[in-house]
Amino acid sequence: MEIVNTEKKTVLSLIQPTGTPTLGNYLGALKNWAKMSEEYDCIFGAADLHSLTVRTEPALLRKRTMEIYALLLALELDPEKNIIFVQSHVPAHSQLGWILNCYTQFGEAARMTQFKEKSLKNADNVNVGLFDYPILMAADILLYQSDFVPVGVDQKQHLELTRDIASRFNSAYGNVFKVPEPFIGKRGARVMSLQEPEKKMSKSDANTKSFILLTDTPDVINKKIKSAVTDSEARVYYSSEKPGVSNLMDIYGSCTGLSYEEIEAQFAGKGYGDFKAAVAEAVIEELRPLQDKFNKLVTEKAYLTETAAVGAEKAARIAYRTLGKVMKKVGLWK
Ligand code: TRP
Repeated sequence: MEIVNTEKKTVLSLIQPTGTPTLGNYLGALKNWAKMSEEYDCIFGAADLHSLTVRTEPALLRKRTMEIYALLLALELDPEKNIIFVQSHVPAHSQLGWILNCYTQFGEAARMTQFKEKSLKNADNVNVGLFDYPILMAADILLYQSDFVPVGVDQKQHLELTRDIASRFNSAYGNVFKVPEPFIGKRGARVMSLQEPEKKMSKSDANTKSFILLTDTPDVINKKIKSAVTDSEARVYYSSEKPGVSNLMDIYGSCTGLSYEEIEAQFAGKGYGDFKAAVAEAVIEELRPLQDKFNKLVTEKAYLTETAAVGAEKAARIAYRTLGKVMKKVGLWK
């Protein structure tokens, strides 16, 4: 008899619908998500509840959530094989979030550096949700018994907190939660600002020339890369003294698969004009299939709604199994 190992590990990540992701989000993380679905059971979603922590016009939040959902599908994540869903469609997230609140110490949550940063940035709206945000994130992860969570440095502390909450709960009540690990896969590129290459590329940067959005047209991409900050040496090679050029090399390498040496050889004796033109072309080609698919999907509202409903149903099946166990353990009448 053939023995088939059906025990795939589960990878989970959610993305906030706070605006169009950048080239940095794509090359650093999203691009790898589609590849993971061969090897893992993947659960990806739009974290719309998390986005309520910052005031957004309701119609805009709804639109962005649909767009993020369409983008997940445009990444070639297969909604048949994976679970692609919207967080608020599965009420178990809020329910487990509440229970975990009661199993997290105020002091633990108060240590989160992202909360401290965000409360400085949104000084006029330091709502309790902003404080509670990492605990909802813990619920997202623990509901699905996730093995791995691909996280960037900014979310590492939240994953640590999730692990602490899970371990503590398990030692009190027996093994209820899988304790998740950070996903250490092929490292994505760390894409820096095109204008201040010492800083990470960010869509919230005031200078719109510093980032490329996944929905930028070829013309816009060309212009932004053309105006990227370099240096006065006019030689293409990788060096910490040349952050602008090195960043463009990282972008070019991520899109083409070429190594630094190969890129250096390709542009030996050539100036930054040629180099930037090639980088822009590579980015445009890299994003083209994604953009084509995305532009088509965002017009198909009925399809998106239907697919999200199927995703939510599949997600709920797993989530409520965990929630039910938790409710019994903590003594809720179930
Ligand atoms: N907090 C994450 C961010 O802002 C988004 C998020 C919500 C998330 N729930 C999650 C990420 C669960 C990973 C796992 O980027």
